[in-house]
Amino acid sequence: MNTDSSAPLSNRRDFLSTSGRIIAAGSLAGLVLPKVHAAGSDEIKLALIGCGGRGTGAAGNAMVQSGAPKLVAMADVFESKLKGSYKTLKDKFDDQVDVPDDRKFIGFDGYKKAMDCLKKGDIAIFTTPLAFRWVHFTYAIEKGLHVFMEKPVTADGPSSRRMLKLGEEAAAKNLKVAVGLNSRHSRALQELHQRVQDGEIGDVMLMRGYRMQPPIGSAFTVPSMRKEGQSELLFQISRFHSFIWASGGGFSDFYIHHIDHLSWMKNAWPIKAQALGGRHYKKSPEGEPYIDQNFDSYSVEYTFEDGAKLYMDGRCMIGANSIYSSYVHGTKGMAIASKSGDTGLPSSTYHGQNPTRDKMIWTSNVPPGETESHANEWTDLIQAIHDDKPYNEIKNGVYASVTTSMGRMAAHTAQEITFDQMLNHEHVYAPDVDKLTLDSEAFLKPDADGKYPVPEPGIKKDREF
Ligand SMILES: NC(=O)c1ccc[n+]([C@@H]2O[C@H](COP(=O)([O-])OP(=O)(O)OC[C@H]3O[C@@H](n4cnc5c(N)ncnc54)[C@H](O)[C@@H]3O)[C@@H](O)[C@H]2O)c1
Repeated sequence: MNTDSSAPLSNRRDFLSTSGRIIAAGSLAGLVLPKVHAAGSDEIKLALIGCGGRGTGAAGNAMVQSGAPKLVAMADVFESKLKGSYKTLKDKFDDQVDVPDDRKFIGFDGYKKAMDCLKKGDIAIFTTPLAFRWVHFTYAIEKGLHVFMEKPVTADGPSSRRMLKLGEEAAAKNLKVAVGLNSRHSRALQELHQRVQDGEIGDVMLMRGYRMQPPIGSAFTVPSMRKEGQSELLFQISRFHSFIWASGGGFSDFYIHHIDHLSWMKNAWPIKAQALGGRHYKKSPEGEPYIDQNFDSYSVEYTFEDGAKLYMDGRCMIGANSIYSSYVHGTKGMAIASKSGDTGLPSSTYHGQNPTRDKMIWTSNVPPGETESHANEWTDLIQAIHDDKPYNEIKNGVYASVTTSMGRMAAHTAQEITFDQMLNHEHVYAPDVDKLTLDSEAFLKPDADGKYPVPEPGIKKDREF
């Protein structure tokens, strides 16, 4: 499967069989698309839905772009999160933040109210856990809004198929849609991609991604983390990395960047995965039982159509060796893609398979002002809106999410999982997520000991939990 959306159709497997339905990803070529500008002015307005760490960061990245976009509405399910984000942004951007109390919305329907404050051609920012992406995206398309949504965009087959279809609808309405796979906007990785395509390291045969670190985010949950009086549903949302329905678990949330940018270097998507994984530590250092759905160690072997491999190793463990970087090996040489972190500079290429200075062919030299891929992805989106150029990262975002999910599912079931199996899988992880209210019951229930259903590799073979 080819990852380069600019490649000619004849070179791409652009037609996906999704539960008997055929989606033609390139079927919009040649159509005259309607212009979508913010009505009455060139000033772009923003609504932020999901006011946590990344949402606050993304809104900040947006507001430093040309035209000085203004934040006019915010929505979250937790008032404290919205308040904190508002204060941070107001302190920093002052008159670019125009969000009076009657444009601050709390609750699961807040996304609609926030987007109702925008005009066609403005931008909605989706930075909630992924379970809500398709719900929010559906409404943005209805309202004629451009979108920036964070990765991953799906965790299961049904929402992946739904998002592909929504991506087509957005493109037909000439809406610009950015997905927060920021590796694709790293200027160093863009140049490396070009060099790899030009054959600098030969044919790509092997790629390696490592994200091995102490526990992060909300991936490891113990009972005492529940706030007094907090509902089951809001508890799970507040600990979203712990729950596969909400986030795809730590695996999807943390490892998708390497899986995405390494697949991009190969210019293809893996066709299948087999994997190892397990949970070694069952109690926190304080002795409380972990009740989340994650493993603490994962090792996935992805296979491409030509037999090339991508290995993704992930570990969340205190005291273990930390490695967080990615590599590409070809028949003539190798590359360091991310030196450290998801997109750490510099990227570099080498003759042979050892990255030593005397064998170096190239090292990236990114101009100041373009070193931050989270800022670049906004520069690229705003530029596309100003130039009215087609801009739609949904298909790539869904493929990256499905590829990540197939690795996770391979580990969780101890079965080989193909891309087509994952995409066409029928298990709905977050049923009726569009109908939730603050009083709704959680669809995932804990057992009598307060523990949630966990993967049982080899026992549960065709579903993760
Ligand atoms: N691209 C990147 O480098 C990067 C980095 C961090 C996070 N992310 C992504 O951003 C997303 C959010 O992550 P985060 O770290 O900011 O988490 P966070 O918990 O800090 O923020 C998420 C926010 O969404 C709110 N929320 C949850 N459900 C909601 C709903 N239905 N409606 C409105 N608000 C809702 C939460 O209350 C919270 O304030 C995740 O998908 C994550 O993978 C991407």
